[in-house]
Amino acid sequence: MNKIIVAIDGHSSCGKSTMAKWLAKEVGYIYVDTGAMYRTITLFAIRNGLIQSKTGHDSSSVEIDEEQLKTKLQDVEIGFVLDPKTKLPLACLNGEIVEDQIRGMEVSSMVSPIAALPFVREKLTMQQKQMGEKKGIVMDGRDIGTAVFPQAELKVFVTASAEVRAMRRFKELQEKGEQNVDFDEILKNVQERDYIDSHREISPLKQADDALVLDNSNLTKDEQNKMLLDMFNQAINK
Ligand code: DC
Repeated sequence: MNKIIVAIDGHSSCGKSTMAKWLAKEVGYIYVDTGAMYRTITLFAIRNGLIQSKTGHDSSSVEIDEEQLKTKLQDVEIGFVLDPKTKLPLACLNGEIVEDQIRGMEVSSMVSPIAALPFVREKLTMQQKQMGEKKGIVMDGRDIGTAVFPQAELKVFVTASAEVRAMRRFKELQEKGEQNVDFDEILKNVQERDYIDSHREISPLKQADDALVLDNSNLTKDEQNKMLLDMFNQAINK
């Protein structure tokens, strides 16, 4: 059977990744979480003292040493390894698994300004295009249907209200045992990221003209998975 490219875009914390992972497993495709790649570069910048928050967890007031980051990024390898148990990809920074480190509040609050840098986007977009050369891939992010794979056979734009998304993230962090989680701070972070992601100059978060919209504010996981699988089946039978 012909393999296709599935591009899944949408706001942060709207369940895109969970849904994309599920579909990839269900149909035997490779799954790529491009947000994890931007997060990994953010972790690299934090570790190397190239990004600093001026006033705590507020992504609107970070300072980035762009010149140094650009130079150092040339030798940085961003990638994934498969978890032998779950068969799911784990983000790697120069061969080190950093999946847990990239999911905390520190990286979350600094990733949007990093993802807005042209040289960061250029590096990752190029790598993502290569990953999809053989098709049979489900990739999720913000610009997959518009910039990475404008030719994707299936484009899905996932959305949910900011409050619903913040509540999901709140529960997720609590379950992980992260200390000091505050719902209002998370909601603010979600709204801030929405704003930066949809207003940046290069590849802003935008629904592709030919994308199918999936609003999951009031859907169960099973309902949204079924909807996605139906979209996939229609796309491969076209
Ligand atoms: O999906 P996520 O929350 O893990 O994404 C992290 C950040 O990376 C978020 O601010 C949006 C940005 N991003 C992007 O600009 N382009 C992508 N293709 C994926 C993520």
